[in-house]
Amino acid sequence: MNTPVLEPVSFRHVPVLAQTVADLLVQDPGGVYVDGTIGGGGHAAALAERLNPAGRLFGIDRDKEALDAVRHRLPNTERLMLHYGNFLDIPELLDTNGIENVDGILLDLGVSSYQIDAPGRGFSFTHDGPLDMRMDRNLIVTASDLVNHAPREKLIRIISQFGEERMVKPIVRVILETRQRHPVETTGQLASLVRSVVRGRDAIKSCSRVFQALRIAVNEELDTLEAALPTLIFRLKPSGRIAVIAYHSLEDRIVKQTFQKLEKGCICPPEWPVCLCKRSPAIRSVVRRPAVPDEKEIQLNSRSRSARLRAAERLPDLRSGA
Ligand SMILES: C[S@@+](CC[C@H](N)C(=O)[O-])C[C@H]1O[C@@H](n2cnc3c(N)ncnc32)[C@H](O)[C@@H]1O
Repeated sequence: MNTPVLEPVSFRHVPVLAQTVADLLVQDPGGVYVDGTIGGGGHAAALAERLNPAGRLFGIDRDKEALDAVRHRLPNTERLMLHYGNFLDIPELLDTNGIENVDGILLDLGVSSYQIDAPGRGFSFTHDGPLDMRMDRNLIVTASDLVNHAPREKLIRIISQFGEERMVKPIVRVILETRQRHPVETTGQLASLVRSVVRGRDAIKSCSRVFQALRIAVNEELDTLEAALPTLIFRLKPSGRIAVIAYHSLEDRIVKQTFQKLEKGCICPPEWPVCLCKRSPAIRSVVRRPAVPDEKEIQLNSRSRSARLRAAERLPDLRSGA
């Protein structure tokens, strides 16, 4: 096998809907805000611009390379605190810093342009590189581990659930046949296997879906989002806001359904004549339909094309009088 030559890639990421996010989130310039996916720091810079000297911003990312890059752009200070970690652990981070609840939280999901463009990270089928795909290099399982060692049924489940790829069975068959002869170690090898099954113009779409599926599985993206959202929402102050930008329907569905559930409050079966659970709505949506980038933004940044921004505001807890 030829080992791909990996060129260093500079950190470049254009934030999506940055001013809309800042408009929605920052209501109190002296408040406490959390960017749970700080990436290249574009949104964080837009948020920081709106804060006064009393305001504080926590920036979190599970990718140490992202944090190293953002440190040059936005130096760590008492007002901007950078942390390596998963946004799932934001409540713990707030506890450690003696903060009960915050004014705003941003999650800009998925991978950054830097991660996609760096062949050494193995996220993209357009550059040849090791089949890695870990956002956090401390994770143990890589995409290569899944492709070379996961049982057939698991690979089928990953590619059909997280990639929604119809040609999943023939793709998995060719992966299994190939790995019996030699391991599939690079993004280029995997893309060629997909292309050997899906030819013509659909090949690129199938490659995108297979790569997306493996990336979601390696980083446990959907489970993390589902577990994190309610806990983050309950760390908002009354009137505090959460904004989430999703880039594919699977993650957007989780955001939509979580918001709907918490907006509704009551969990009694619909056939019950009166509410017995006495749960009150925890949030209200602050954008009626998800905000999307306009044509101009899409022209300037084609990767913004699939973005959908949802935002919600925490309602006072009526039972506690908070
Ligand atoms: C779309 S980029 C964010 C870009 C950023 N908003 C900006 O303006 O530059 C997503 C970032 O979130 C990080 N990320 C994804 N899931 C995460 C998680 N569960 N916890 C922490 N960081 C995560 C990725 O490593 C990546 O750097």
